[in-house]
Amino acid sequence: MNTIVAPCVDDTAPAELLKRGERLLEPDVYRTCLNGQPAVVKDYTRYRGTPLSPIARLLVRREARILQRLSGWKHAPALLGTIGGLALGMEFIPGQSLSAAQSVGIEVFEQLQYALTRLHAAGITHNDLHGTNVMVSGGVPVLVDFTSAWRSPRWLPVHPVSRQLRRSDMKNLLKMRQRLTGERPSASEAAQVADPRWVAGVRAAWKRFYRRFKGHA
Ligand SMILES: Nc1ncnc2c1ncn2[C@@H]1O[C@H](COP(=O)(O)OP(=O)(O)OP(=O)(O)O)[C@@H](O)[C@H]1O
Ligand SMILES: [Mg+2]
Repeated sequence: MNTIVAPCVDDTAPAELLKRGERLLEPDVYRTCLNGQPAVVKDYTRYRGTPLSPIARLLVRREARILQRLSGWKHAPALLGTIGGLALGMEFIPGQSLSAAQSVGIEVFEQLQYALTRLHAAGITHNDLHGTNVMVSGGVPVLVDFTSAWRSPRWLPVHPVSRQLRRSDMKNLLKMRQRLTGERPSASEAAQVADPRWVAGVRAAWKRFYRRFKGHA
């Protein structure tokens, strides 16, 4: 882990900006080549020497650790390494994101559902599952952006919060499926993602508090 990858020295492959980090602790994301391999770099180096640098390093380390755990899995990009602690290099996934795709077959969602089940079985939740974080490459869905992902230690029994995070991943997936294929969740899927009473209670209490807070502000 924490392999230092030499920056690409291939002049013929200039970096192409995929997304400029504008909000707090958002990385610049660009496509480049690392050691001759097409790569994507998530780059937080603008935080070097600032008070936010330790947090940015932590984000890089966490995402790298998750990608390392998932190495060899076709539904996540391979980790290529970290660069100076503030940037992360990973395999470039050619294709389109789900949000850019014109039409997506139901079989992509079948694979995605299976992939998500496997991810959860490995104790990992993605926690930011939306169209721009799923690339479809040659008909295979590939999850990207594991910045918010969480891995529960294997020895820990499944915690209600982890269960809630899994439900929330699945809920996001079903929403994307409905939007892109028109297929509504089946009765058993709807039951699987329904909030338990304690979550509904916490949510309602939060809404009440927030409304009152806004009323006084
Ligand atoms: N390995 C990859 N291969 C191809 N494209 C990628 C890869 N990783 C990221 N991208 C593209 O770059 C975009 C931004 O990357 P990423 O989602 O990791 O950053 P982010 O700052 O967390 O973005 P957001 O806040 O929009 O989710 C992705 O939505 C995706 O389109
Ligand atoms: Mg993203």
